[in-house]
Amino acid sequence: MMNRPDPNKAFPNPNIPSLCYIKNVVTNPNIIVGDYTYYDDSDGADQFEKHVTHFYDFIGDKLIIGKFCAIAKGVEFVMNGANHRMDCVTTYPFYIMGGDWGSAIAPVKDELPLKGDTVIGNDVWIGQHVTVMPGVHIGDGAIIGANSVVARDIPPYAVAVGNPCRIVRKRFDDELIALLLQFKWWDKSIEEIERLMPTLSCGDVEKVREELKARLS
Ligand SMILES: CC(C)(COP(=O)(O)OP(=O)(O)OC[C@H]1O[C@@H](n2cnc3c(N)ncnc32)[C@H](O)[C@@H]1OP(=O)(O)O)[C@@H](O)C(=O)NCCC(=O)NCCS
Repeated sequence: MMNRPDPNKAFPNPNIPSLCYIKNVVTNPNIIVGDYTYYDDSDGADQFEKHVTHFYDFIGDKLIIGKFCAIAKGVEFVMNGANHRMDCVTTYPFYIMGGDWGSAIAPVKDELPLKGDTVIGNDVWIGQHVTVMPGVHIGDGAIIGANSVVARDIPPYAVAVGNPCRIVRKRFDDELIALLLQFKWWDKSIEEIERLMPTLSCGDVEKVREELKARLS
């Protein structure tokens, strides 16, 4: 009888209470998170949603995160509601403070500088205290270094660091990246993923390349 971690449990490992499968604790339907993606935060990993800010229903943007991502403490997903109008002479949002200013006008959605949904792929590792700006797409297998501010898209299997977040290297050559993106191990059944674990966790990438080629042929 297998005793695999249950992807439908918030805290899969009772010995590590800082580690939480995010999909089981989010309540906002515009946050969509895949199986096994975890947030690790000793200050309360089940508080992930507090790290998704300026997230307003009237804008309707989404935060979409794939499967098997590792997201470290202190992440901030800044959503589109954070961006004030910049085409007027002031960026100050008079209308937000309540009360009666008389002539203060809230912008309509089309007037805001909206950047679209934030989309994080599968098997992405986000280091601690990373800020992800609105509308950013981070590709499958990417790594984002600690304290980075990600304001532009990051392609699959890139290592990117800093503010502004820049690609320092690709993790693998183009052929292996293409094989991995075709293989999509994260979409296999959990039984198959379990069989693949020695391959997925193997440091000999040439062996992995040959295995992927064989499996994809
Ligand atoms: C991104 C990371 C994985 C890169 O590791 P690496 O491949 O060993 O990279 P290196 O240490 O060789 O650094 C490569 C370059 O990026 C720079 N760099 C690395 N991490 C950086 C970061 N977080 N911010 C800014 N620059 C960084 C290095 O200074 C180096 O620059 P140089 O080539 O100009 O000297 C690692 O630095 C990191 O940030 N890990 C995240 C750890 C974490 O937050 N874990 C949370 C718990 S899961």
